[in-house]
Amino acid sequence: MTETLNKSNEIQLIHKKSFDDNNNTSYLSIQPNSLDELIELLHNAFSTNEIDIDYIYTIMNNYKGTINEWLPYIKFQSDHYTRSLVDNGNGKFNLMILCWAENQGSSIHDHTNSHCFLKCLQGTLIETRYAWPTFEKTESMHIFNRVELTEGQVTYINDSIGLHRIENPSHTEKVITLHLYIPPFDHCNIFNEHTSCMNEIKMIFHSIREQLTRNE
Ligand SMILES: [Fe+2]
Repeated sequence: MTETLNKSNEIQLIHKKSFDDNNNTSYLSIQPNSLDELIELLHNAFSTNEIDIDYIYTIMNNYKGTINEWLPYIKFQSDHYTRSLVDNGNGKFNLMILCWAENQGSSIHDHTNSHCFLKCLQGTLIETRYAWPTFEKTESMHIFNRVELTEGQVTYINDSIGLHRIENPSHTEKVITLHLYIPPFDHCNIFNEHTSCMNEIKMIFHSIREQLTRNE
């Protein structure tokens, strides 16, 4: 028995573990030891359109990498965090690395009906979760959770859970994160913390597979 979480682009994300007592959870010991191994496991998982969300979480959580394999995607800017596409998942997912310089953070945003897995590769970040605004009146956004994510930890969010903001709280340390979006999306909505006003923005990559996409 499975629980369907989402159907988008014919991909269904399901929970198998919670509903099937006889479910094989041997995959919990799978440990990708390189980015290439992680990408290969993801492509294998996406060879069907029924994706086990617990399996994806597990391989993201178990992935152990080194900064050497992230180097092609590491680019820090003084004015904004950067996004570099690592793999486009044949149109079924996007795997990307984000680089956050000291005190940089995202806007409060949604995920456009996509599923987001975020792994902290280096440093410590703060994830603040907000409830969807009612849109009926102008008021401040409501925070319902705020957690610290340290190296190796993974968080998961989708629009049914709420909105979030990611921040590097450090004055001295940079942060590197790995993001998996299922399915890919190129725009999202951002929200004003004080008024709950929403605006759609286009999302850009600063590099795609090691090639810079704009002059920097
Ligand atoms: Fe996000």
